[in-house]
Amino acid sequence: MIMRLTAQRKCLAQGLALIADLPGPILEFGLGKGRTYDYLRSHANGRRIIAFDRDIHCPPDCVPAPADLVLGEFRQTMPGAGERLGQPAALAHFDVGSENPAADEALVTWLSAAADPLIAPGAVVISDRAMSNPRWCSLPAPPGGGDGSHFMYRVEG
Ligand SMILES: C[S@@+](CC[C@H](N)C(=O)[O-])C[C@H]1O[C@@H](n2cnc3c(N)ncnc32)[C@H](O)[C@@H]1O
Repeated sequence: MIMRLTAQRKCLAQGLALIADLPGPILEFGLGKGRTYDYLRSHANGRRIIAFDRDIHCPPDCVPAPADLVLGEFRQTMPGAGERLGQPAALAHFDVGSENPAADEALVTWLSAAADPLIAPGAVVISDRAMSNPRWCSLPAPPGGGDGSHFMYRVEG
C-alpha cells in the first residue's frame, strides 16, 4: 500500500510538472477521502480542481467549494460536466479503482470516452487503472512511480 501511494504521488507530481505551462483546470475523478485532492491542491499553484464522486466521505476541510464539486454517479454527472469547466482540463486524475476488476474495467472503458472531450490537447491523464483512448499516448512512469499501479498518458491534439 505504501509503495502504491508513493507511486501515485510521484505520478501526480510528474503530471503537475508536465502541465506547468498548459492552462486549464484539474479533474479529480474519485474524491474519496480527499487524500489525492489534498495533494493536488497543495501543489497546483492555485489551479482550479473540480472533483467528482458519488458522495462525500472526506474530511470537511477537503470538501471542494460547491462550484467545484460534482456529486453523483459518473454516468449521470459526466454529461453536461463540460459546461461547469469553462475550459478543457490540463490534468485528469482517475482514482476510481475498487476490489471488482471487471466493474473497474467497464467503468474506465466508459470514462475513457466520456471524459475525453473535457480534456485539452497536451493534457496529462493519470489513472489507477489502464485506460485507452485513441488520443491518449502512454507516458513512462516517473522514477519511483513505476510499480505498475498507475498509468500516465499525454493527450494529443
Ligand atoms: C479509491 S477511492 C478515491 C480515493 C481518493 N482519490 C483519495 O485519495 O482519497 C474511489 C472513489 O471513487 C468513487 N467512485 C467509484 N465509482 C464511481 C462512480 N461510478 N461514480 C461516482 N463515484 C465513483 C468512490 O465513491 C470512491 O470515493
